[in-house]
Amino acid sequence: MPHRLLTNNRAWATAKKAADPGFFTRLAKQQNPRYMWIGCADSRVPANEITGLDPGEVFVHRNVANLVVHSDLNALSTVQFAVEHLKVQHIFVVGHYGCAGVRAALHGLRIGLADNWLRHVQDVRLRHRRRLEHLSPAQQEDVLCEMNVIEQVGNVALSTVIQDAWGRGQAVAVHGWVYGLQDGLLKDLDVTMERREDVVAKFGAAIKRYPRGPEGAAAGDAADSSFGPGVL
Ligand code: CO
Repeated sequence: MPHRLLTNNRAWATAKKAADPGFFTRLAKQQNPRYMWIGCADSRVPANEITGLDPGEVFVHRNVANLVVHSDLNALSTVQFAVEHLKVQHIFVVGHYGCAGVRAALHGLRIGLADNWLRHVQDVRLRHRRRLEHLSPAQQEDVLCEMNVIEQVGNVALSTVIQDAWGRGQAVAVHGWVYGLQDGLLKDLDVTMERREDVVAKFGAAIKRYPRGPEGAAAGDAADSSFGPGVL
């Protein structure tokens, strides 16, 4: 008996070919996606399925908590290939509510090796703690999921790959979205960056949508304004 997944695959390939006889031969020649998706590895957030896209239409990179770490050669190489070779026009950083990685980072829960990876989400929490601490625990989880996306959009935009692409006039937009496991809907966090000049203003406007608590207002939140390298 073949494995259930192999049986499923046979049925899928047969149905696909029946609906569009040239589908596989066309795709085998080349991929020409307009979109790149950077999302969480969570099994409930499959890029193609929730956006109604076929194979060949979206170039995907996923990891725990949809992070784009400055020195992550895996993520950066994927972005570079997408931008410089495939010429994608849109990159979506997509978080999701109920993200176990974000929850662990928020509450300091120990998972294992991933704790070290999730320190990057803890950095986001610490940076914006004045905008988080006055919220209920459930609200904090949702807001940190959103803030983490906003931070990663900034990280993509400030990468050499995107800075160089914009520098030579290539049109590529970086968007931040968040997905609801409860309703299956994507929400645009309105932090789209399309040129070098966008980055600091778009980031600041997005983060300022989350009000500081009373204590934060008194103490100030200098960390918020320290975003971006000095050259921008
Ligand atoms: Co997740």
